[in-house]
Amino acid sequence: MPDGMGDFFAPRRLCDTAALADGGAGVRFAVSLNGREVGAFVVRYDGVAHGYLNQCAHVPMELDWQEGQFFDSAGLYLMCATHGATYAPDTGLCVGGPCRGAALAKLRIEEREGAVYWLPEAPFLPPDA
Ligand code: FES
Repeated sequence: MPDGMGDFFAPRRLCDTAALADGGAGVRFAVSLNGREVGAFVVRYDGVAHGYLNQCAHVPMELDWQEGQFFDSAGLYLMCATHGATYAPDTGLCVGGPCRGAALAKLRIEEREGAVYWLPEAPFLPPDA
């Protein structure tokens, strides 16, 4: 079935539920923001999948130095590999480092029937839209 306007904001399947371990590696994907393709990721924390733009609130660098590694070694905070900003995994709020008080841009994530989905909403659109 061709993608019509009605599918514009259709949920995008990101990965299997089992692919996201609590406090473990994340799954990267891409979104379109103001006509530009920007990296994003989803991780699991305390049983819940959370998605964010892969852009530090300090300088818009990607957080993961090693692809998919977003958590600190204890699996408690998301950590930027560039200058070490730490973020609460469930809210994206920066709780330590140079951008304390700022936050990652949060994306809508939903999990059902064994899979994790991104629910695109403006200004974060599917890159192929
Ligand atoms: S770019 Fe992330 S802490 Fe500086």
